[in-house]
Amino acid sequence: MSDICSNWTQWLKQNRFAGQTPEMQAQTMRWLEAVRDVILVYAEIKPYDVVLDIGTGTGLLAFKALEMQNCEGRVIFSDKFQDCLEDCKKILDESGVTSGYELMQCPVEHIALPESTVHKALMRSVLVHVVNKQPAINEIYRVLKPGGKLCAFEPVIRSNTRYWEILHPMHIDRYEDFKKAENEIMENPMDSLCNFDEKTLRTNLEIAGFSDPDVQLQEVRSSYVVQPNMVREWFVNPPSPDQPSTKERFMKYFDEATVEKYMQDVQNFLTGREINLKTNAVFINATK
Ligand SMILES: C[S@@+](CC[C@H](N)C(=O)[O-])C[C@H]1O[C@@H](n2cnc3c(N)ncnc32)[C@H](O)[C@@H]1O
Repeated sequence: MSDICSNWTQWLKQNRFAGQTPEMQAQTMRWLEAVRDVILVYAEIKPYDVVLDIGTGTGLLAFKALEMQNCEGRVIFSDKFQDCLEDCKKILDESGVTSGYELMQCPVEHIALPESTVHKALMRSVLVHVVNKQPAINEIYRVLKPGGKLCAFEPVIRSNTRYWEILHPMHIDRYEDFKKAENEIMENPMDSLCNFDEKTLRTNLEIAGFSDPDVQLQEVRSSYVVQPNMVREWFVNPPSPDQPSTKERFMKYFDEATVEKYMQDVQNFLTGREINLKTNAVFINATK
């Protein structure tokens, strides 16, 4: 078992819903299923297709692909972390599924398959965890058969609403300093979470060899009333087990007491207010 935050799967279950009300959790689930369904519509899975779910996590895409193939095809659950595969295996066993799938532990940068062996590569929110995206996309291209497809979704975090945009300088100590720090954090080229957007991804895909990849930017606007517990959750929950939390990112610029004061100011200002957020993501549909 990997020791990165002890268990990725645990993280996926706990942190995906961090700070959300039950109503928001249900909304997130519906959104995840909607994203999954778009990816699978793009993929046009056939009964005989070899389907590779890269960074499967808790199997969001792979389980649905398995269902679509009626457990008679070949769906490969792959992930860098064994924990995720163990969790998927448990679900498969409990569901009595004995065929139509494989489990494969490997990172997207080194997929443990020969070249030109996959009909459909599926992926959701994985490149956002990979600092250097070009080798990963090259590797996906390598394992796809000619005519095979990469169908994926990635959040484009650097174009999302930033904290400073929903705050007011009058109510936040050192507002300008935190705004500057946040902008620097969001534009750090070594940070996998925000070192890309739809344009850089399209370039990566073209360099890998995909001709005319479809990369659709989707902007979602949402609004909700901030609850008292939410702000701390936003700041202290890491975006992934091996990444620093927002609080830790700010602590590269300020001491802990200053960041704690900022978090308190943010909480005091936002609690009970309705906030409007812009969230960006891309859907990729690329054919080899
Ligand atoms: C946000 S989760 C998404 C999980 C799943 N695809 C879903 O949609 O629910 C990111 C997943 O990517 C996996 N991951 C992170 N880095 C990876 C890498 N370099 N290669 C393969 N998988 C990776 C993690 O283990 C995790 O399961």
